[in-house]
Amino acid sequence: MEKTLVLIKPDAFGKNHSGDILKLYEDAGFKIVAAKVMQMTVALAAKHYVEHIGRPYYPALVEFMTSAPLMAVVLSGDNVIKKVRELNGATNPAEAAEGTVRKLFAEDKTHNAVHASDSPDSAAREIPIFFSACEIFD
Ligand code: PPS
Repeated sequence: MEKTLVLIKPDAFGKNHSGDILKLYEDAGFKIVAAKVMQMTVALAAKHYVEHIGRPYYPALVEFMTSAPLMAVVLSGDNVIKKVRELNGATNPAEAAEGTVRKLFAEDKTHNAVHASDSPDSAAREIPIFFSACEIFD
């Protein structure tokens, strides 16, 4: 079964929206096969966001992602990578569709509630950054 990495970012996690967000994914038919609360280090952020290093928004992104705890989750299901990106909505919550996670819970393009892998290659690269094989129950 296909898997994707979701990060419930420090803004949404800190406002106790994790349960609401996970319910949206579970109601869509996806299974939680791994989950942990953790705080990103600058080194972990650089590994996860390696393709964004050097972009203008990168310092703000790292400052935000390392600022407070977050929840890392692996979801499993049919076409989960594409469908979770749709459930999350546009990166900028001002452009996110009604009912999406970012429309419901995000503040702005920096504090945008969630991350989700954008392709099978990204999911395969990102999941082992956060979870060892024995922490994934699929
Ligand atoms: S995406 O989701 O990859 O299609 O979006 P993209 O526009 O390429 O952005 C890549 C990640 O950078 C984050 N981002 C920002 N963070 C802080 N400030 C600003 N202005 C900003 N713009 C983009 C965006 O949320 C993406 O992070 P993730 O964690 O992948 O959602």
